Parts: sequence; C-alpha cells; structure tokens
Amino acid sequence: MGVFGFSKPEILHAVSSEVKVCTKCPLWKTRKNAVPGEGNPNAQIMLIGEAPGYWEDIKAKPFVGAAGKFLDSLLSEIGFSREEVFICNVLKCRPPRNREPRANEIQTCTPYLEKQIQVIQPEFIVTLGNHSTAYVFSKATLSFSGITQAHGKFYETVIFDFKFTLFPTFHPAAALHNPKYRKQLINDFQLLKNELKKTR
Ligand code: URA
Ligand code: SF4
Repeated sequence: MGVFGFSKPEILHAVSSEVKVCTKCPLWKTRKNAVPGEGNPNAQIMLIGEAPGYWEDIKAKPFVGAAGKFLDSLLSEIGFSREEVFICNVLKCRPPRNREPRANEIQTCTPYLEKQIQVIQPEFIVTLGNHSTAYVFSKATLSFSGITQAHGKFYETVIFDFKFTLFPTFHPAAALHNPKYRKQLINDFQLLKNELKKTR
C-alpha cells in the first residue's frame, strides 16, 4: 500500500491521468500526446530521460524511437527488460522541434516526476543526460558541473526524505551519432551491472 490506502499502481495511474490532460505549461499546445512514463510500480531501477521526441509524442510512450531501441539493448545487457524498470522523462510533453527544455517548463512539470519518484522509491535512479541529472542533483543540493564530470559514478543520495543510489550517464540519443558517447554509455551500464550484482 502507498499513501492513504492507495496502492502504488493506483497513484501512478492517477498521475498519468493528470499528465494526459495537463495544460500547466505552453507545451500542451504543440504536443500530440503527453507521455507520462511507464513501467513497473515496484521497479528496482528508474530511468529518467529529458523529454518526449517525435515518436514518443505520436505513440504516447517513452523511448520508443531510435534512442529507445538503443536503451533497450543497454537494458538487456544488464539483464533487465523494459517491463521490469520504470522509464519516464523530466518533461512529459515534446518541446517543438525537440528543442531543449526551458527552466520554466521544468519547474512547472517536475511535480509529476517528483510524485512518480516518491511513489516508486526505486533503489537506483539512472539519469540519462544533462537535464535529468541536473534536476536530481539540484533536488539533492549537490553541485552539478555537467554530465561529462558526473557520469559513471554512484551517488548515495536523499531527495524527498528517501534514500537511493543515483547513477548518471549520457543520453542514449547522444550516442546515436557519436561513437565516443556510445562507448561511454556501454561502459557505464557495465558499471551499473556490477553494482546491481551486489544487490541480488
Ligand atoms: N529522448 C528522451 O529524453 N526521452 C524519450 O522518451 C525519447 C527520447
Ligand atoms: Fe503539463 Fe508537463 Fe506537458 Fe507542460 S510539459 S503541459 S507541465 S505535462
């Protein structure tokens, strides 16, 4: 049971329902579909990307485009299926032409992400790229000087009074056209795999 007698799936479903009709920031005007995120309510690992892209906006699901295919392969490499983890984004609606999220959009949208984190309380949060890493770092009052500095390390972190291990890595989209990021992502997921072995 979660808070006030509601189960985790019930609370997550309520968050998704709210996101699907949200008009709190201007991104609702240009989206086709909001993308709340999805996965196992009791996930050991939660992965947080940046914002929906072209295909995610059409299908209303996170990471279903090319970056998502690569993410699937990274997950299978560490022995996890999509259904076992929870995948979502900092922003729930696609910014026009996939531009960078704006500070006011992040501020307006992240109460949804916060609720998802509080309900799921995963052991590991894997942040994909600069935006989600910067967001979790700021909540944890850690100082952030970019994903290149922060990636591939484990941070024992507390946000919203709950303790978890933060593992930042690069965004899978960055790896699609840059072999350097691709290698680093694969390497980071190997580190994650080794760390996960200790918990099983
Ligand atoms: N990039 C993201 O950050 N999230 C998605 O869901 C897809 C691509
Ligand atoms: Fe609402 Fe977030 Fe979509 Fe903005 S991006 S409309 S805050 S769900």
